[in-house]
Amino acid sequence: MAVSATRRHFPPTSLFLLLITITSVQSIGVNYGTLGDNLPPPAQVAQFLKDRTTIDRIKIFDVNPDILRAFANTGILVAVTVPNGEIPALTDLAYARRWLAANIEPFYPQTKINYILVGNEILHWGPQNLVDNLVAAMRTLHQALILSGIKDIKITTAHSLGILESSDPPSLAKFRPGWDKGVLAPVLQFHRETKSPFMVNPYPYFGYSPENANFSVFHTNRGVFDKFTKRTYGNMFDMLMDAVYVSMMKLRYGDVDIAVGETGWSALGESFEQPRCSVENAAAYNGGLVRKYNSGRGTPLRPRKKVETYIFGLFNENQKTGPLSERNFGLFRPDFTPVYDIGIMREGVAAPLQPIQRPALPPSAGDGKKWCVPKAGATDAELQANIDYVCSQGVDCHPIQPGGACFDPDNVRAHASFVMNAFYQTEGRHEFNCDFSGSGSITFTDPSTSLYS
Ligand SMILES: *[C@@H]1O[C@H](CO)[C@@H](O)[C@H](O)[C@H]1NC(C)=O
Repeated sequence: MAVSATRRHFPPTSLFLLLITITSVQSIGVNYGTLGDNLPPPAQVAQFLKDRTTIDRIKIFDVNPDILRAFANTGILVAVTVPNGEIPALTDLAYARRWLAANIEPFYPQTKINYILVGNEILHWGPQNLVDNLVAAMRTLHQALILSGIKDIKITTAHSLGILESSDPPSLAKFRPGWDKGVLAPVLQFHRETKSPFMVNPYPYFGYSPENANFSVFHTNRGVFDKFTKRTYGNMFDMLMDAVYVSMMKLRYGDVDIAVGETGWSALGESFEQPRCSVENAAAYNGGLVRKYNSGRGTPLRPRKKVETYIFGLFNENQKTGPLSERNFGLFRPDFTPVYDIGIMREGVAAPLQPIQRPALPPSAGDGKKWCVPKAGATDAELQANIDYVCSQGVDCHPIQPGGACFDPDNVRAHASFVMNAFYQTEGRHEFNCDFSGSGSITFTDPSTSLYS
């Protein structure tokens, strides 16, 4: 029954395509912060990222000329940030042109600068005169780029999610009154005109609680249902992103792209930051983010929009102030060893994985000979929840719908068997992709061949 459904859905060609998907290069962006007195020189960083990792874009919090020089001819995209204090002056076109000539033009196009962010989280941190001048500075800098004949650098600015008045459920989200029409509508109008993305910094990290732990870090969970849109959210990242999207739609800017300027998770914190800060949570969150990014899937409300994403951050930065967690957001230590594995090291590079929290795929998994099936004791209610969850995650569930090739046999166990395996295979075949709150298990025996043998 269930097993014949599985067989029909993995004919040789789709299995072949599946393997290609799984072995394709995982790319991602990272924020390269420099608040450390033990960080390697930019030239070494550029070489390391290019040769050893699949990171294909970085974002920096200034216009550091050493970094811009170091990334010349690496092919790695570089997003730079105008210091907040420059914003009022940049509303003057002559000043904006001088600023470009001094900070950008010497390095461009050898260094592939893709964005200039005009300040960082200005609405969140203020002061008011920066907020008041933000859109004008963005527009003037854009005009200066055009006058310099530079067409492929886009202007944006990053916003904290403090711009939202509410985010749960996403369908009822909206921007804070005052900022909505006063600042964000003009920012979005600018993005629409210049085809640049609206950039936000969502941190499910800050919404974590022991109760929603799995939902926060991309682990299997029952999801959160939005009764107004009838969409089920499988993770908090998607929920926050759709909250931003709905807020934009309410201002009639649903056509503007969204990019993630920063998101990440700290691997180590003080005792009061437990159990949130752990290597396991950081690896699960950032790893889930990389897999999601590379799947090309968007959010439940915008399933076909891949969201450009920059993880925070590249290194642990020992001079950041605040609690211990602030100094432990890095994917790498200053000596380039990875803090955990999220699948971004280039093939053939033996990453010295320190605490291995999630076992890498065992060699036998690489040949496509593992399947995820419902446990014998799993109840129909559990299996139905698994179907609802998987089908909300962008997995194609048409085959188990009426008229679909796997609709028969029409029972919950057969349908769950199909979707649970499809999810396990496409998410990268990690054991936790087949956990389903304890209702799934991995088998090494092809359930379909055992039926026929
Ligand atoms: C998270 O998932 C694990 C494994 O699926 C499960 O044992 C645990 O109870 C879940 N935690 C919560 C708070 O739901």
